[in-house]
Amino acid sequence: AAVNFVSHDGEKHEAPLEEGQSLMQVAVDNGIPGIDGDCGGEAACGTCHVVVDEQWADTVGGSGPVEEEMLSMTPERQPTSRLSCQMNVTDGWDGLTVHLPEFQM
Ligand code: FES
Repeated sequence: AAVNFVSHDGEKHEAPLEEGQSLMQVAVDNGIPGIDGDCGGEAACGTCHVVVDEQWADTVGGSGPVEEEMLSMTPERQPTSRLSCQMNVTDGWDGLTVHLPEFQM
């Protein structure tokens, strides 16, 4: 089982699906470029911004109020933007694809 991070230039990085972790933690553990997680998962830095692939938007769901506030200040905000530290990985996310905004490269 794996989740996929696609950088702005189209490069795909795969990470193992680690249930119960935040998606940000999975990315950091696996050295995914473009996900820094500077605030440690407090929805306060915006360096874990990902754009959820359209196909996965319903499965993953939308942002919460605190997350939304941070996202509203984030450049390159997209309709399916999420802070990956606020996304708790579950079994059903096998094959999940998220895209990384350009500025995080
Ligand atoms: Fe800082 Fe997600 S790690 S907002």
